[in-house]
Amino acid sequence: MKALIIYDSNFGNTKKIADALKDAFDGNAMSKSVNDFKSEDLNDTKLLIVGSPINAWRPTKNITKFLTQLDATRMKGIKAAAFDTRVRSLISGNAAKKIAKQLQNSGGEIIAETIGFFVNGNEGPLAEGELERAKEWAKKIQSKL
Ligand SMILES: Cc1cc2nc3c(=O)[nH]c(=O)nc-3n(C[C@H](O)[C@H](O)[C@H](O)COP(=O)(O)O)c2cc1C
Repeated sequence: MKALIIYDSNFGNTKKIADALKDAFDGNAMSKSVNDFKSEDLNDTKLLIVGSPINAWRPTKNITKFLTQLDATRMKGIKAAAFDTRVRSLISGNAAKKIAKQLQNSGGEIIAETIGFFVNGNEGPLAEGELERAKEWAKKIQSKL
């Protein structure tokens, strides 16, 4: 099984979550900035996890571009999950759900509930316990593989 975690991150917090997820997969996963993504990366990927900070109620422009570039069948046969990072606010929005929908539209099979990880302020740091919560989420995903 090869799991690929694609993330965008302005201040490093989403990268920290992506790396914690990667570590939870015990050497079977790779985390990569969306800026370094190449289409061939998906060729031997069985599980794709995509994460983005919420920026103005949406995924970042880079993640949106990445998702738009996936054609209607690119995710066929690939299991998928999505997360975002956000501040604690009643009007945070939900980027993870938007990501999951697009992954599904490209033929991906969503295998876990989307999740949002909290940061304390725009630049972080991550709220206490969020790295552990990421590991728990990774375990749930692993149990569905
Ligand atoms: C321009 C901008 C817009 C943002 N919009 C939202 C938002 O709509 N909802 C939210 O919960 N957080 C918002 N945030 C906070 C980000 O979610 C936070 O900066 C991000 O999770 C940090 O992750 P990163 O270090 O990976 O960039 C915004 C931050 C910036 C800089």
